[in-house]
Amino acid sequence: MTGIYATSNKVVSSSLSNQRSKTGPNKGQSKAKGWEVGDSKEELKMKEDQQQHQYRRKFTGPTVYLLLLALSYSLGYMSGSSSSSSTTATNTNIATEQESLHLLQPRTESNQTFQNTAEPSGRGNSCTAISQSETDHYQFSTQCGAPIPSEHVRQKILDGLFNGSSPFVGFPPPHAVPYLRQKRIKGWGSNGAVFENLIRKVRPTTIIEVGTFLGASTIHMAQVAKGLGLHHTQIICVDDFRGWAGFRDLITGVPMINGDVTLLYQFMQNVAHFNVTDMVLPLPFSSASTLEKLCEYGVFGDLIEVDAGHDFHSAWSDINRAYKILRPGGVIFGHDYFTAADKRGVRRAVNLFARLKSLRILLDGQHWVIHSDA
Ligand SMILES: C[S@@+](CC[C@H](N)C(=O)[O-])C[C@H]1O[C@@H](n2cnc3c(N)ncnc32)[C@H](O)[C@@H]1O
Repeated sequence: MTGIYATSNKVVSSSLSNQRSKTGPNKGQSKAKGWEVGDSKEELKMKEDQQQHQYRRKFTGPTVYLLLLALSYSLGYMSGSSSSSSTTATNTNIATEQESLHLLQPRTESNQTFQNTAEPSGRGNSCTAISQSETDHYQFSTQCGAPIPSEHVRQKILDGLFNGSSPFVGFPPPHAVPYLRQKRIKGWGSNGAVFENLIRKVRPTTIIEVGTFLGASTIHMAQVAKGLGLHHTQIICVDDFRGWAGFRDLITGVPMINGDVTLLYQFMQNVAHFNVTDMVLPLPFSSASTLEKLCEYGVFGDLIEVDAGHDFHSAWSDINRAYKILRPGGVIFGHDYFTAADKRGVRRAVNLFARLKSLRILLDGQHWVIHSDA
């Protein structure tokens, strides 16, 4: 089992070895149990990446800090000239691969102004400066409802979104039966040690999983929770159950009925097969609208996994919305911190989020982990 380790730096890593990256255009190339074919190029690259990350960390001490400081002065960035009063949009970019995370400082949001690059001739946008309040992508300002007790969470959602009854009642519908396999699981790092580590630590009554696919990680979490005696834990699965454009090229044999890829029904079938329908509730809508709705309902998670869209903007939106419904003392985490796909969208979003909120990123295998600041 891997552990989550802490050092004095912002990012803290544990195991490099035993977890797999994910398959798909927004994943690294890999596989779940039953799909093992040896290390792919992507996995080797990912391991290298992890090792480089660790290696870099060894050389991010005071020496490098001083060097960077000196370099910054020589480039004029810290010389007190005009750049200090207005931050250009590009300067707000988050950590690049070369950046040492411990150099990232939380910014005050009030002191930034975005300058556009409109030509003086008047062609293009005629504004010369756009205030941050107009362009602020950092704001997710919805006020959440008062937290409801965890024992009311399932019914609250059933009442609000399913006319009061469980979607598992009468499942499977006859028209879906010919398309379902008794069990069809496919996941990525879905049995990683991080799940058990966090469930043991947090002992969650409400888990919210953003990005569920066929339920590999959901079912694993349900089994771990059960094994720890947490029989009343609810796992709320937020997924539109559409996969992503082109996923059927990678995962062959997924039936399609009139354009519907049947992921929801196969997910429900998998959950039923493993006899955890009482612990699991699928919410088959977009992550943004669903997380907002949970916030409105006052549904908070003790443990929230974010593993839906892996491009920066999707991950950024999901992490911010999910963090708003993280119970004080809870933990938010997600996969693919090291995956190079989608221009490392997940890592960039996690790094920016942690920097803005002054939170510490812990690493457990391929997963990033952030504890709430409460
Ligand atoms: C990588 S899979 C999740 C894998 C799962 N956590 C596991 O380990 O088995 C990503 C999932 O996110 C879902 N997804 C992507 N973008 C989404 C969005 N904007 N709203 C809802 N679901 C989304 C896809 O349908 C897909 O099932």
